Amino acid sequence: MEQNKKKKALITGIAGQDGSYLAEFLLSKGYEVHGIVRWDSIFTTQRIDHLYQDYHIKGVRLFTHYGDMTDTGSLEKWINEIKPDEVYHLAAQSHVKVSFEMPEFTTNTDALGTLRILEAIKNSNLPIRFYMAASSEQFGSSPPPQNENTPFNPRSPYACAKVFSYYITRVYREAYGIFACNGIFYNHESPRRGPTFVTKKITRAVARIKAGLDKKLYLGNLEAKRDWGFAPEYVEVMWKILQQEKPDDFVIATGEAHSVREFLTEAFQYAGLGDWEPYVEIDPRYFRPAEVEVLIGDATKAKEKLGWQPKIKFKDLVKIMVDADFRALGLTPPGEGDRILREKFPNRWWKVD
Ligand code: GDD
Repeated sequence: MEQNKKKKALITGIAGQDGSYLAEFLLSKGYEVHGIVRWDSIFTTQRIDHLYQDYHIKGVRLFTHYGDMTDTGSLEKWINEIKPDEVYHLAAQSHVKVSFEMPEFTTNTDALGTLRILEAIKNSNLPIRFYMAASSEQFGSSPPPQNENTPFNPRSPYACAKVFSYYITRVYREAYGIFACNGIFYNHESPRRGPTFVTKKITRAVARIKAGLDKKLYLGNLEAKRDWGFAPEYVEVMWKILQQEKPDDFVIATGEAHSVREFLTEAFQYAGLGDWEPYVEIDPRYFRPAEVEVLIGDATKAKEKLGWQPKIKFKDLVKIMVDADFRALGLTPPGEGDRILREKFPNRWWKVD
């Protein structure tokens, strides 16, 4: 029967933090999940290794395919072969600082990549629902709090590329009737966050210092403020956005901002290392040519229309991440983060790292 048909999702960027959680979430909902991964000479799929099963086993529901956001043919091929019900477009060069060093690559991947996959969807004539991972970076220097009506003032090549992707998603919705949505997500972190983003860089360093592996941590601007949420909660809302009656765009945030300095204080204290000052040095190479000073999201629309509200705020997030980094090095974690996860997510669908 049509309504019992297993839904198929295609995730670009399945090997990333969000892609891995989303794959896990959709598998828990009974989906068949396909993911596009970039070719590399080493395996880059560690984040989904625990989900992987040999394709020869009957009933396997996770499949990965080689492709790239700069390779139109591969995107067309997978859209037409898989015929997904939903596409979650998460693939990007997602590092803001790196986008200043590789602006053309970032634009090609992050801006034109979105256009390529939208064209593939349009030309397939399939009734695909499309989710686009837009970013709070698009607001740039617009004063906080920002919501869906706040003007964009991008401050990096990355943010410019995301602004393009946001608008082209809307254009394909309005021009061709595609069910295409933007989730304007504020920073969202987890133990699976890449180690060059500031939260993970700090929690990983805290664990390494505790283990006697490192003595110093080198950082850039400590005064920047971000609205930091918890990635598993954010990927659930991607799915919610695509289950609405009408396509729409949503800001997703906790509504609280904290500085990098505050993150340092929390992480070092929680790890039992005391003050962070003796361990941290400023290295100007981590400064950005143009900085976004403060981002605070107003997610009222998501609360009202999607019934979405985050359970994890700043202090809990720091604890969850520090606990995981302790464990990764074989240290006994302080344990508060694990307790918070057990209490707030009794029916957790993801593997705790
Ligand atoms: N990465 C990094 N490394 N950032 C540092 C460092 C450092 O050593 N020292 C200070 N920072 C400051 C940055 O200048 C920035 O103000 C803040 O920490 C956060 O930096 P990131 O963790 O790199 O994240 P981001 O806010 O630039 O971008 C992230 O969030 C966006 C959503 O708002 C990324 O995930 C983007 O892909 C995402 O769109």
